[in-house]
Amino acid sequence: MLLEVNHVVKKYPNGTIANDDISLTVDSGEVFGLLGPNGAGKTTLISQIIGLSAPTSGSIHINGIDIVKNPAYARKVCSFQPQSQVPIDGLSPLQAIEIIGRLRGGKKNDVKKKACELIEKLQITPWATKSGEKLSGGVRRLVAFCMAVVVPGKIVILDEPTNDVDPLRRRLLWGEVRSIADEGNTVLLVTHNVLEAERSVDRLAIINGSRLLKVGTPAAFKEYDSENLTLELILEPSQEIMELPSFIFKPHRAGRRLRTYVKSQDLTETVGWAQALQREGIVEEFFIGPINLEDAYMQMTADHSVENSQSDLV
Ligand SMILES: Nc1ncnc2c1ncn2[C@@H]1O[C@H](COP(=O)(O)OP(=O)(O)O)[C@@H](O)[C@H]1O
Ligand SMILES: [Mg+2]
Repeated sequence: MLLEVNHVVKKYPNGTIANDDISLTVDSGEVFGLLGPNGAGKTTLISQIIGLSAPTSGSIHINGIDIVKNPAYARKVCSFQPQSQVPIDGLSPLQAIEIIGRLRGGKKNDVKKKACELIEKLQITPWATKSGEKLSGGVRRLVAFCMAVVVPGKIVILDEPTNDVDPLRRRLLWGEVRSIADEGNTVLLVTHNVLEAERSVDRLAIINGSRLLKVGTPAAFKEYDSENLTLELILEPSQEIMELPSFIFKPHRAGRRLRTYVKSQDLTETVGWAQALQREGIVEEFFIGPINLEDAYMQMTADHSVENSQSDLV
């Protein structure tokens, strides 16, 4: 097993318990997602895996080596894109990526070639030789990603790599994450973007309120709730549904979009009800489908915590 996290507890000096008995394992060549709302303890866990801070109790091993005792080993074998923006003022993206590649032991020509390849693949060529101070947040984030993967560690750790990045380049970045794993490296991906993670990860863990709720494949998470379907209604502008029938549950309204759940056995009734609303001009369109990972995630985190941020839903 490449990474083993065993009963890790992290208590900050102010008394906050940010990780409460976290255990998980990550295999070589996997893309492993760590998902959870803001404040769940994801960054805290990552900082212990890369040896920047020690657990209050519990153990972490990489390749069988105890990295609590030997944090330098973790820093050697992990490459890391932090959640905070990486300062590259005074350097161009190309220079910053090349310097990191050389520091990580890459040969000059190999590093240059790989840096250019990454810049091209992520479509940031127009900024490649611009000064770092002049870059937008999204481009900086992509440069930080390139810095983490130009000479990848055995474990590539990416903490919210797509924050501020536009949708097209997000997709390019996820493609690159897959190819890093296909080349035999391991990726530990921290994100609160569930739908993007679903397409990129082999397995994932959901953490909430400092505790690990579940580990499994995206498909296993959806089985969490295989009895239910989602129903999404797009209301006509300034229309309201006065009363929801009893077979509709957990409604959530965001603008004109009303997302709810129904039991599979109530499908026929649901379709009839939604079609009637459409005929009455209350609903513009509606969709019924299986629970996706985001639904499973929302239900799990809502079930387990009252103070979690639901901001991704609205
Ligand atoms: N250095 C610190 N000292 C005290 N509390 C902290 C510190 N860093 C993070 N926390 C708290 O620990 C919890 C988990 O934070 P964090 O690991 O950053 O979560 P996430 O990355 O999932 O958003 C939060 O309640 C946060 O306020
Ligand atoms: Mg974080």
